Amino acid sequence: MTQEVIKIRGGQTLKGEVTISGAKNSAVAIIPATLLAQGQVKLDGLPQISDVETLVSLLEDLNIKAQLNGKTLEVDTSEIQNAPLPNNKVESLRASYYMMGAMLGRFKKCVIGLPGGCPLGPRPIDQHIKGFKALGAEIDESNDTSMKIEAKELHGANIFLDMVSVGATINIMLAAVHAKGQTVIENAAKEPEVVDVANFLNSLGANIKGAGTSTLKINGVKDLHGSEYQIIPDRIEAGTYMCIAAAVGEEITINNIVPKHVEALTVKLKELGVDIEIDGDAEKAIIKRKPMYKNVDIKTLVYPGFATDLQQPITPLLFMADGPSFVTETIYPARFRHVDELKHMGANIDADMQTGTATIKPSTLNGADVYASDLRAGACLIIAGLLAEGITTIYNVRHIYRGYTDIVTHLKTLGADIWTEEV
Ligand code: EPU
Repeated sequence: MTQEVIKIRGGQTLKGEVTISGAKNSAVAIIPATLLAQGQVKLDGLPQISDVETLVSLLEDLNIKAQLNGKTLEVDTSEIQNAPLPNNKVESLRASYYMMGAMLGRFKKCVIGLPGGCPLGPRPIDQHIKGFKALGAEIDESNDTSMKIEAKELHGANIFLDMVSVGATINIMLAAVHAKGQTVIENAAKEPEVVDVANFLNSLGANIKGAGTSTLKINGVKDLHGSEYQIIPDRIEAGTYMCIAAAVGEEITINNIVPKHVEALTVKLKELGVDIEIDGDAEKAIIKRKPMYKNVDIKTLVYPGFATDLQQPITPLLFMADGPSFVTETIYPARFRHVDELKHMGANIDADMQTGTATIKPSTLNGADVYASDLRAGACLIIAGLLAEGITTIYNVRHIYRGYTDIVTHLKTLGADIWTEEV
């Protein structure tokens, strides 16, 4: 069997501009959320990634008319039908769990396969389930591969999340928009993608207050109409290009960013000593690389802290530092599957997945054959490949295509020696 690989001949300096797409982690929640609308919905600014295509095809499985044209999606739910979704599409991505909340909200009933996604260690959905139950749903988990969720009636409830969870906050919000009375989610996630989903639902006529704070209040409404909605820029894609620019950019302008959303990364890059200029009015960042940086410590946290999704992409910059850096991963302690691959490239890096920590020492990288175990590990290996001497071949690139719009083309345009091959 053949598979596509990404090949990079490292050592080039990149120059030019790149424009960031709409946020993957908003899009993958807002697409399922469209099934709650009774009118027509038009989404704009979608990233062109395989996760979007998979979710659109799940909408079609519910007899929804969904037309995806590049960055826009038009959805018409007038002939929607409830259908079981226990299939391999559901298992191919994590965010399919948002079909649970949305279908529960719309039909009070769904049968759906268990979510997959990047292997980052255990990724339970107990808080989602706890929320659905509090709203009045009963869950049948007797089947190993799918779940049946059903409610006679959905009613408002006070739900205190045991941990801050983006997925649980959004999923409960989706299920609660039609519940009778008020739902309050305490210890809610404050990530910009949560705010984006709340804004989208409010554009349909939902009544959600407090998005972006740790207390979310959802007053149930009977009907939701259609709307046109623009997805926010992807702060993780932006952050990835900021790291690329700091690694190999002679001068790179990154357009379509929300400076506030990338603030934790910007501050960390400045601490490293990166030459970075943020133009808030023009919503862009201009970054020039330096040959050497200062060592820094990084601890991943929920928003507005340093995003776990940028922990892997920033790692190659730490090889350019003049001393050892220490990384603590508090969200997914096992999110270190890039480490062995980097070692193949000659990196001086060690991780402990029990404690969720890694020590990264100054290193010179050489091209090697490496495997992208997950989406952000893939981004990390691309940056390492751009820095390395010689050719790096990245296998398992389907993970990268799940989350980055046209990354190979963008990098080629910036001057990278990068191409794909069937092997
Ligand atoms: N958790 C539980 N129980 C739950 C839910 C979460 O124990 O019911 C734990 C998780 O295992 C994790 C922590 O709580 O340790 C936070 O998980 P969260 O629910 O916030 O993560 P998620 O919603 O599954 C989203 C993004 C991830 C991103 C995390 C953290 C999507 C589709 N995924 O995942 O994005 O890392 O939030 O910000 O929105 C990525 O884009 O590469 C990616 C993995």
